[in-house]
Amino acid sequence: MLIKDRLHWVGILNPGLRYFDFIPTANGTTYNSYLITAQKPTLVDGVFRKYSELYLDRISSVVPLDKLVYYVINHTEHDHSSAVGAVLDAAPQITVVGTGPAIEFLKCILNRDFRSQAVEDNDRLDLGDRHLRFLRVPFWHWPDTMFTWLEEDRVLFTCDGFGAHFCDERMFDNKVDDFSHEFSEYYNHIMRAFAPKILDGLDRIKDLDIDVICPSHGPILCTHPQRYVALYRKWATPAEKPRKLVTVFYASIYGSTRRMARAIADGIGESCAVELLDAHLLDPEAVRDALERSDGVMFGSVTLNGDVALAMWQVLTQLKTVSLKDKKMAAFGSYGWSGEAANLTLERLKSLRVPVVEPALRIRFSPTETDLELCRKFGQEFASKL
Ligand code: FEO
Repeated sequence: MLIKDRLHWVGILNPGLRYFDFIPTANGTTYNSYLITAQKPTLVDGVFRKYSELYLDRISSVVPLDKLVYYVINHTEHDHSSAVGAVLDAAPQITVVGTGPAIEFLKCILNRDFRSQAVEDNDRLDLGDRHLRFLRVPFWHWPDTMFTWLEEDRVLFTCDGFGAHFCDERMFDNKVDDFSHEFSEYYNHIMRAFAPKILDGLDRIKDLDIDVICPSHGPILCTHPQRYVALYRKWATPAEKPRKLVTVFYASIYGSTRRMARAIADGIGESCAVELLDAHLLDPEAVRDALERSDGVMFGSVTLNGDVALAMWQVLTQLKTVSLKDKKMAAFGSYGWSGEAANLTLERLKSLRVPVVEPALRIRFSPTETDLELCRKFGQEFASKL
């Protein structure tokens, strides 16, 4: 599929895919690969190995494989790199171009050596009648990541950036069906945890006069591409808040942990805004939103069979789906005889390298008025540390 003079899409459609990693993909996905038919023909990004044969056919229908000179790898996750081995088998003269981490990762993914050229930020590559410039954007969403700028055509290859798990053979954003939901879901699942890095990357491209964005999944973005850039900036920018905000999640059975949570929230509320959320009533998206907007987070769980309540574990599993930069956390909970939940929660937080306020606050069975006063103080002291 021709995108521009000397730029072809040679990717793969996968309309039947229903899960990618753990993300539902009701409309399938695409693995986009691009071929620049410059004097030095160059591939950009690859596809999943299952499609190697079709991929080689597509490439060779445009350029004989023995004429390929470079293969630019913006990111090495298997969906983009695992068919690279088949291309290198068929065209061993190719030089793979990527960041240092990308070259290292690719050697481990393919378990082989190959001709390679590691590039630094802002390096240029001369393809004869075309030129590429490389912009390192680490953690969009792996450490290996870069964007590639095709100067003469003002095309930005962004790999997972600005992608969408959406399959429509018409491929161009002005021709395909509405994919706005898949575009935002992709950001939420893949990029959101790296919001500060996303903003850094957006700053790197803010002066580019982009004509087309070529991502590695979903539609090619040729209609006002800056609107997609603006959406990423909006989503990655933290909301401005007049006061610090603390969210208190709780999972209670007979109400003791809930009473603790309310008293803690009272203490926090003396100096900060506070939200009290019942873990049993939350879906993952609500948890992610709350985690993201909070400066401090508390997790209160009853101990159940020596463990944290399932609803609270489900909250804790969302921690790494958002940026936790500069957030403080703490744990509390009521118990009957052993009381592991609060400390297990702290262990989980520490394993994620989140700054925690210790020790956890644990109250046996039903909290007394004295216990509830302790809870209020616990909340006050936590708020004072933000
Ligand atoms: Fe589409 Fe990070 O892989």
